[in-house]
Amino acid sequence: MKGPVFETILAARLSRRSVLAGTAATLTTTGLAAYARIPTKENSGLPNTFKSIAPQKGDDFVVAEGYRANIVARWGDSLVAGTRDFDTKLMTTSKWLGPEAAADQERRFGTNADAVQFFGLSKGRAGRGLLCVNHEYVNAELMWPRHRGAGMRLVDRKAWMAEHPHAVAFLQAAHGVSVLQIQRDTHRWARDTGGPLNRRITAQTPMEISGPARGHALMRTKGDPAGVRVLGTFANCSAGKTPWGTYLTSEENVDDYFAGGKNFSAPGGNAALADAYRRFSLRENSFYGWEHQDPRFDVAHEPKEALRFGWMVEVDPHDRKSVPRKRTALGRFQHEGANSIVGKTGHVAAYMGDDDKFEYVYKFVTRDRFDPKNPAANRDLLDHGTLYAARFDADGSGVWLPLVYDENGPLNSRAGYANQGDVVIKARAAADLLGATPMDRPEDVEPSPITGRIYVACTKTENRGHTEGKTEWEGRTIDVAANAANPRADNSSGHIIEIAEAGDDATAATFSWNVFLLAGDPRAGTFIVDARELAAANLEGTDTYFAGYANRAELSPLHCPDNLGIDPQGRLWIVTDTDTRDRPNNGCYVVPTSGPQRGLLKQLASGPNGCELSGCEFTPDGRTLFLSVQHPGEGGTLDDPRSHWPDGNGLPARAAIVAVEREDGAPV
Ligand code: FEO
Ligand code: CA
Ligand code: CA
Ligand code: CA
Repeated sequence: MKGPVFETILAARLSRRSVLAGTAATLTTTGLAAYARIPTKENSGLPNTFKSIAPQKGDDFVVAEGYRANIVARWGDSLVAGTRDFDTKLMTTSKWLGPEAAADQERRFGTNADAVQFFGLSKGRAGRGLLCVNHEYVNAELMWPRHRGAGMRLVDRKAWMAEHPHAVAFLQAAHGVSVLQIQRDTHRWARDTGGPLNRRITAQTPMEISGPARGHALMRTKGDPAGVRVLGTFANCSAGKTPWGTYLTSEENVDDYFAGGKNFSAPGGNAALADAYRRFSLRENSFYGWEHQDPRFDVAHEPKEALRFGWMVEVDPHDRKSVPRKRTALGRFQHEGANSIVGKTGHVAAYMGDDDKFEYVYKFVTRDRFDPKNPAANRDLLDHGTLYAARFDADGSGVWLPLVYDENGPLNSRAGYANQGDVVIKARAAADLLGATPMDRPEDVEPSPITGRIYVACTKTENRGHTEGKTEWEGRTIDVAANAANPRADNSSGHIIEIAEAGDDATAATFSWNVFLLAGDPRAGTFIVDARELAAANLEGTDTYFAGYANRAELSPLHCPDNLGIDPQGRLWIVTDTDTRDRPNNGCYVVPTSGPQRGLLKQLASGPNGCELSGCEFTPDGRTLFLSVQHPGEGGTLDDPRSHWPDGNGLPARAAIVAVEREDGAPV
């Protein structure tokens, strides 16, 4: 639709909205410009030819016709020759949680697989490689009889912990990262338990603190008076790879692991600590109870320990003995992941989301250039550079706001920033001060290596709509009204933003952006085709927009995009994390970003009951897609299960990595 006909329909729709909302709708050029498309960049773009699957509600992993899936690793599978796979038949009691449980778990694949990244081991062949996998958390209610998980009453949890003195050591061993060698025979990918690079990183693995916060006063603890070494990583959500072949694992909901938060809100407390925790606050009781058996998780005992988490951690999967490094230059917040790209100048940009309501999109640009010929020179590239937070302006432009300590700038000692360490530890507060745009929970931020366009998954946020001024939220006063980049007040299905860096340069200080997709069921509410209609002030929660694709009958419904991926053909892949108690199961979707199929979103796979899907990782030949099936059965308990995936036969559900391929061997 073009020209006057379109304008008339658009005006009619906008005036219908304005009548409904009781506000005046104006078709100003400014309002329209905000949603003018940034020019699409063509990529070779395989067409989406498969037949979408329908949304699913069963306890199966389902793939479209012409595809197959195989399980690569499940929680408890051995990573070490001589160690047996965990036998889930033991789970009718909690007797297996004995003194050996933690050491056994350290030799086995962890729980709740989240991010998955593939590193080829043989040049030119996709037949051998390493998977790096995050193990984000543990659903105790799906693991032990009569456990009720994070929602268990404190008194009951303390009693359970007293009966299970090895529980926390086991839980810590089940978190972190697995490095897992895999190989492919003619039909399937399988674990190589003899792989010399197989490794578990847990919540107890020693790691170095590097970058501006290394040695900072706020990082020093009784256990580490120098503030340079920390035990472990946990709450590892999404992840990414660097151009030099390392794994970047994120620390996301780390606040759930600490107790004693009221110490920092009490009057007369330590002002520096209160300020450091203001925008990343702790509760009085943790979600998981680690403090009952490990005092470092009680901040009354170790007040700064929680500040040593919430970072991006770099792991070299090719060196089993390498010490992981917390790259503090990338800031401290609820890191979803970090996806990097080499810019025109050879500097590397890593794009990151802070997954919480009304938090920000970030990028880090290295000070030095990536040198593909000199691996040693790249080793600490992530320690020096500039961290930026994004401001999305209503006219479709945007600014990367540099979070840089400067006595003559806004981030100075009078504002509470005496050095760059202060800035990265209090990155959220620094971004507040500079005026970054509060987003609807930014998850993966994925640059396309083919086009340089960047895609931001905003998973959902239902709390907008306070159009009357400002609201107190997580330690600051902000305007939580819908804004141009987060246009729905009731955004229960999420959306995806598309960014073009100025001059197509990943290191640029400005960008332009548009809404790529307003998720939801395209058959349910107003189906928007012309981007300019997104300028309406009162978009409803059920309104949808699929990058301008016009035929809603061809589109799959999508709710709560989480991880993103780009396949070697340049298509955007999306996996979802929505509450499946009142929606179909989470799935995996693909959408071309250019050409006539731009916006044609199709569902390729569906997870079993209660899971979210994570990953979207491809082998370099594009023939295998790795996905994580995280927390199958969530919403149920071991005693009252919702899922028995993947083992069936009434056995407990467990998270697993799945490899999806086309039956004809062509790229997925
Ligand atoms: Fe752990 Fe943001 O999902
Ligand atoms: Ca996630
Ligand atoms: Ca990704
Ligand atoms: Ca999520």
